[in-house]
Amino acid sequence: MSSAEAWVEIGAADELAAGERMVLQIDDKFVAVFNVDGDYFAIEDRCSHDDGELADGALNGCEIECSRHGAKFDIRTGKALSSPAIVDIESYGVKVEADSLLLAWPTDETN
Ligand code: FES
Repeated sequence: MSSAEAWVEIGAADELAAGERMVLQIDDKFVAVFNVDGDYFAIEDRCSHDDGELADGALNGCEIECSRHGAKFDIRTGKALSSPAIVDIESYGVKVEADSLLLAWPTDETN
């Protein structure tokens, strides 16, 4: 990723228990955040095939399946794993600091 990132607080870590997911809006984008066995991952909540929401899809390990036409993505990387999606989606870093969840959000800085 070439753009800079800023850590943005998105909530308390204990609000997102293992096995759960949540969707939040930052700027004009929706982001799906997952807790998979204590590890946190975040992706843009928009399928690259036809803009379907991903957060409500079936999650198998770290693979999310779009509920519209079945494309699968790796929530760790945003990589498109199966058709009909052929384009990767955005993924974002997540960390826990002082019991807060922080998301690595791209900024427009071009230093
Ligand atoms: S919109 Fe996700 S597979 Fe078509």
